[in-house]
Amino acid sequence: MTDALHRPLGLLAELTHRCPLGCPYCSNPLELDRRSDELDTETWARVFREAAGLGVLQVHLSGGEPAARRDLTEIMAAARTAGLYSNLITSGVGLTPKTFTALVDAGLDHVQISIQDSEAETADHIAGYKGAYARKRALAAEVIRHGLPLTVNAVMHRANIDRIGDMVALALELGATRVEIAHVQYYGWALKNRGALMPTAEQVERAIGVVEDLRKRHHGHIVIDAVVPDYYARYPKPCVGGWGRRSLNVTPSGVVLPCHAAQSIPGLEFWNVRDHSLADIWASSPAFNAFRGDDWMQEPCRSCPRKHEDFGGCRCQAFALTGDARATDPVCHLSPQHALVGQLAAVQMDEPYAYRR
Ligand code: SF4
Ligand code: FES
Repeated sequence: MTDALHRPLGLLAELTHRCPLGCPYCSNPLELDRRSDELDTETWARVFREAAGLGVLQVHLSGGEPAARRDLTEIMAAARTAGLYSNLITSGVGLTPKTFTALVDAGLDHVQISIQDSEAETADHIAGYKGAYARKRALAAEVIRHGLPLTVNAVMHRANIDRIGDMVALALELGATRVEIAHVQYYGWALKNRGALMPTAEQVERAIGVVEDLRKRHHGHIVIDAVVPDYYARYPKPCVGGWGRRSLNVTPSGVVLPCHAAQSIPGLEFWNVRDHSLADIWASSPAFNAFRGDDWMQEPCRSCPRKHEDFGGCRCQAFALTGDARATDPVCHLSPQHALVGQLAAVQMDEPYAYRR
């Protein structure tokens, strides 16, 4: 089977770029879609039907903050009608109990709440929003009250990585069945804050030990998803499960991307659901075909036995660090530019966050 024939399993529906929080590691693009350019309810419903037809099983309703959409319940219902398993990815801010109940009634399956830290003061400081932590806790209680599975998503960096244990304890206290310990990905907005967010090597080493210990201690109670942060890993991650192989993202204005940061790579031609069917985009859009298979690879990836495991790493990171999206992800210790990663990881600066606004 060629890569072009792989079927996507997941669709990330970025319903809006509007968001009340200002996280310094925001993964949305530098240029945000305007509200007036957002897809309407009916177009999302068509996208979900087409996604299901393509083989997609899960839709992640995301943003920005999806609750900023007044038609969120209708969009949710359309996902259910299309037969998709729905996961709401929310900041927890802006979602009232009434709206949440309507979402549950419309068939919502799963909720993922991002929590910035285990303590209110620091969590609100990182989010750039006073009172966010309390609202997240309140929404988590609603999720459990309705009997839905809850995942806590915790993005770790220098300011909170020493509290991984507390984050897992908080997730357990909230009733989550899964906690995702994600590390900041340094592209897009997060690049502006790399010096302020980068953990030290000692912090990362300690955190790896803590996670191993927590997994043993809480085995059977909560699933702990955690990977070593990119800049300290020996091999890169198989970003998005391989470009154009497993998933697709639809931006608020309908542009279809192989990964959420793909627009940071210049020169790629993206297609829009306003002009093409999702199946057409998946099979034929130039952006999706740009890094499928291995013809595009350079050495050392091209002749590396791991190339079908990690696909040469992350294209967006390769571009962000080397200026060449076809390069081996410099996180890989075999990359000729690997030394760069060590140099960048060594730069830690005590400067104020540049908040996303
Ligand atoms: Fe992966 Fe390329 Fe490194 Fe091999 S050389 S491990 S394919 S990134
Ligand atoms: Fe784009 Fe990794 S984020 S390929």
